[in-house]
Amino acid sequence: MSTPSNQDPCLTQAAASDASVLSEHEKAVGKQADEKGRYSLMPLALLFGFSGLIFWAGTYLNRYSGQFDPKIFDENAHPSTGAEVVAKVDPIVLGKKQYALACVACHMPDGNGIATVNPPLAGSEWVNGPEERLIRIVLHGLNGPVKVKGADYNGAMPVFGKVPGSGYNWSDDKIAAVLTYVRQEWGNKSGPITTEAVAAIRAKEGDRKQWSSDDLLKIQ
Ligand code: HEC
Repeated sequence: MSTPSNQDPCLTQAAASDASVLSEHEKAVGKQADEKGRYSLMPLALLFGFSGLIFWAGTYLNRYSGQFDPKIFDENAHPSTGAEVVAKVDPIVLGKKQYALACVACHMPDGNGIATVNPPLAGSEWVNGPEERLIRIVLHGLNGPVKVKGADYNGAMPVFGKVPGSGYNWSDDKIAAVLTYVRQEWGNKSGPITTEAVAAIRAKEGDRKQWSSDDLLKIQ
């Protein structure tokens, strides 16, 4: 075994005795390490990890998505308690915001309007009068001659309900809130306007053209 060729296992194989073959064989087919012992637990941990994440994400969306309703701004509101969410929004706060957004430019911060152009809301008989008329004015607009607090106006009040071509498309709650606000601001002391009252008039009148003051005066 002094020459290198003798160290080649293929060559030495032929010279192996039965006993050495058997013992080699035993080593080769003998007990192997447990298959599972060599199995990596990592993919299993990942599987559990990702399942947990997906479960958490599902629960999170279910809890906080607000059913993807654009009207729900409060991300902590539970979808099934929609009634409480509406109740939490103070109509005066919402109404004030809507007024500042859409009415103030014409009717002014003090509710006195602009003499001869835009009539006042403060102390107005329309604002403090029957809600049946007031809601219609904001839903469908008002056009043509109108008398407010003894003064004559002849302009056009924009349409706030959903009307094709109208820039505004206010929900019943927004209209109810802004009217509730103007009915108790600047010394006005009239009762609130409910979302239901606005919805009822919207359903009854559908999409119609702007009112004239004469048409409105026929409604009690
Ligand atoms: C572009 C100006 C303009 C905007 C914006 C506007 N109005 Fe008017 N509004 C008028 C004019 C003009 C009249 C009178 C219409 C007429 O002469 O026929 C009027 C009339 C009214 C009336 C009946 C008359 C009165 O003075 O009581 C009410 C109520 C009213 N507006 C409420 C509102 C509310 C609430 C908003 C906001 C949601 C609003 N208006 C936004 C111009 C406007």
